Amino acid sequence: MDEFKLHIIEKIVDEAGAEGIDESCVEIPPDPKMGDYAFPCFMLSKKLKKAPPMIAEWLKAKIKPDEVIEQVENAGPYLNFFVRRDVLAEKTLREVAEKKEKYGSCDLGKGGKVVIDFSSPNIAKPFGIGHLRSTVIGNSIYRLHNFTGYTSVGVNHIGDWGTQFGKLIVAFNSWGTEKELEKEPIAHLFNIYVKFHEEAKIRPELEDEARAWFRKLEEGNREALRLWDLFKNLSLSEFKRYYKELDIHFDSWHGESFYNDKMRAVVEKLKKKNLLTLSEGAQVVEVGEDMPPALVVKSDGATMYMTRDLAAALYRLHEYKPAKLLYVVGGPQKLHFRQLFKILEMMGERKCDMMHVDFGHYLGMKTREGNIIFLEEVLDKAVELAKKIIKEKNPSLADKEDVAKAVGIGAIIFGDLVNDRVRDMEFSWDKMLSFEGETGPYVQYAHARICSIIRRHGKKPDSKADCSALKEDIEKELVKKVYAFRQVVADAAESYKPHLLAHYLVELGQTFNTFYTQCPVLKAESRKLAGARLLLCDAVRQVLANGMWLLGIKAPEEM
Ligand code: ARG
Repeated sequence: MDEFKLHIIEKIVDEAGAEGIDESCVEIPPDPKMGDYAFPCFMLSKKLKKAPPMIAEWLKAKIKPDEVIEQVENAGPYLNFFVRRDVLAEKTLREVAEKKEKYGSCDLGKGGKVVIDFSSPNIAKPFGIGHLRSTVIGNSIYRLHNFTGYTSVGVNHIGDWGTQFGKLIVAFNSWGTEKELEKEPIAHLFNIYVKFHEEAKIRPELEDEARAWFRKLEEGNREALRLWDLFKNLSLSEFKRYYKELDIHFDSWHGESFYNDKMRAVVEKLKKKNLLTLSEGAQVVEVGEDMPPALVVKSDGATMYMTRDLAAALYRLHEYKPAKLLYVVGGPQKLHFRQLFKILEMMGERKCDMMHVDFGHYLGMKTREGNIIFLEEVLDKAVELAKKIIKEKNPSLADKEDVAKAVGIGAIIFGDLVNDRVRDMEFSWDKMLSFEGETGPYVQYAHARICSIIRRHGKKPDSKADCSALKEDIEKELVKKVYAFRQVVADAAESYKPHLLAHYLVELGQTFNTFYTQCPVLKAESRKLAGARLLLCDAVRQVLANGMWLLGIKAPEEM
């Protein structure tokens, strides 16, 4: 993938006659002064029966600079390579100019399908913090996979089935009104749901009523289905509003209820394979010593979250024949997914890579009720705060509304994705919306700044500009950062870690800002140099834009 690495490996192999040296054997030194690439000679010492520093010295004498390598140095056990800066710039900047919004993409996935189960909120319940995280992380993983040659299939596994619907029906019949339901569906349903739990403490018979209603629902009772359908449609239209705000798209909306008529077959299959055990009237699967048994059918015949996930996995395997099946769901469901994958394995159905892409909690986020956020409030507040900042910073900006939206929502998305997903993280408005540090606005601003330089230039940067004019170290460093984008994208996709990309974008912004304080662009010493620097700026702009797109955030040209 890294052409320079490959070139270096070829040279080492030719000279040392060593087999088995691949990309992983060539490193990038921590300090560019040491070189652009380094080969630790330890791995040859056994074969050559020499100490690594001696091998480095010997190789240095043999490997001559060429049209790509400017200089080879030995330092202790390392052999350090310097790539010619004109070759590096030429290759990189031309490629960006040519590929544009496709720069950084590759065919790693060879067209294989990746089914990504993400967002998946629950009907009649507010969008939880966890659902926001799943939405944002899942969307980035979706885009990263499409960009690296896979075909992403985004599935919103809506929580639209389960015993809670029995409770909701009882609650709605007792305290609900259709009028309030129309007005603010999720808030109304949530309120009566909370009330149900309070009342059920005093009148436990409500729980029996709820169970009875859920059974009616599973049996296809008309009134039960009518109410369920009403709750579902109203909640969904609210969720869809959020997705529109966040610019997020799904390929399938098959929620849990979609598997109603597919669960019997799953239970039959489990039975046929002798995997079901009766335990106090319920049917469970024993999944091994290290996990509790998984409940598949309750003693009253009701199905479970697990049953629907089993049916969903079989359906997805059959429908999409995927290379990977991903579940972007919070850490608390670790056990559930370990059980799920284990059962599928025991059924002989673990037919592709399956992965629970888990994530941690938000700490310190003020919520109205327990772990519940009202997403719309959060998004509105972000846009509001962004508007205030923009008004202060750039009072003459034309489309403040749109930019505030891009910045506010971008800040939330970036603030989430910049953290390693498995870690718990702080939620802080100030930190997220700051124009300094590892934030969305910082990266967006670097992009807007470059757009402004190019606007002031008045013409499109010349893709044929003479790259050999770029002689400063900081220019080489910036070119190298641009060159590294492809690898970062591939790593972020393969490890399901968008934060690698978010960090990279911050570093690219920082390197650009250093470059810009040291190197005048429009007022460069010569026209040739100005042309080359503009092309470099344009490449950085393109990479920032592509990177932000992969994270799911907008890149305004002015802010
Ligand atoms: N609706 C579930 C919840 O809110 C998440 C569903 C995740 N996807 C799945 N296939 N289980 O907890």
